[in-house]
Amino acid sequence: MSTHDATRARFAATADRLAALQERRADELASRIREFVPLAGDERALDVGAGTGALAFALAPLVGEVVAVELVPELIERGRAKAPANVSFVEGDIVKLDFARASFDVAGTLRTLHHVPRPELVIAELTRVTRPGGTVLVVDQIAPNDPLAAFDLNAFERARDPSHTRTLADVDLRQLFEANSLVLLKAEFVREQRELEPYLDLAGCKGEQREQAKALAPADYTAELGWYLLRRP
Ligand SMILES: C[S@@+](CC[C@H](N)C(=O)[O-])C[C@H]1O[C@@H](n2cnc3c(N)ncnc32)[C@H](O)[C@@H]1O
Repeated sequence: MSTHDATRARFAATADRLAALQERRADELASRIREFVPLAGDERALDVGAGTGALAFALAPLVGEVVAVELVPELIERGRAKAPANVSFVEGDIVKLDFARASFDVAGTLRTLHHVPRPELVIAELTRVTRPGGTVLVVDQIAPNDPLAAFDLNAFERARDPSHTRTLADVDLRQLFEANSLVLLKAEFVREQRELEPYLDLAGCKGEQREQAKALAPADYTAELGWYLLRRP
């Protein structure tokens, strides 16, 4: 099965759960975005791998307009049903965005890079579509620096969700930023405690697959999210 097919299958089956999780996280995400991303109020913003619109909805009151790009129609449908007037959803593949160079003031991605086989293409596309002087926001779970610990974490995550590709370590992300000449303005790390059973439910992980994932699960799972604010030179 291709990664796109795995992504469509996983998120079509669990669209309602992702939408509900987004609602539970919305207030905290909105206040973090307000603090982390300096905005003037009239920007054209982009959210790639938007799901049901978590980042797009958090940006919406702070900017002029947000475009949300997402692969899975079932998520787009749920996002559109709740979208503020200045958020529009587009179906597309985030490794090849259908936008002209420099067409956004702000471009970001939240919790999505680890679903893409070639995350370097996403960072390159975010850079290409952001105007010089504009802002790029990258937020995703980061892998432990210890390669063996990272290997184990990814083995568990792939068993839980076949659309998981790989979480990158902080150093890998910084290399991708540097390769695109992005200037790192700020980085923050946020720890997130994950209860195993609800986390397996969120991915629709059942039956034998669930047993395999449980066998690989960390004893006490605390994920670390990296938040990176970058300027496109
Ligand atoms: C874990 S979800 C995060 C969704 C949302 N950003 C959030 O924080 O709630 C990852 C999202 O990336 C999307 N995605 C993965 N690969 C993609 C691709 N190649 N093009 C567009 N979207 C993609 C998935 O469909 C899914 O909605």
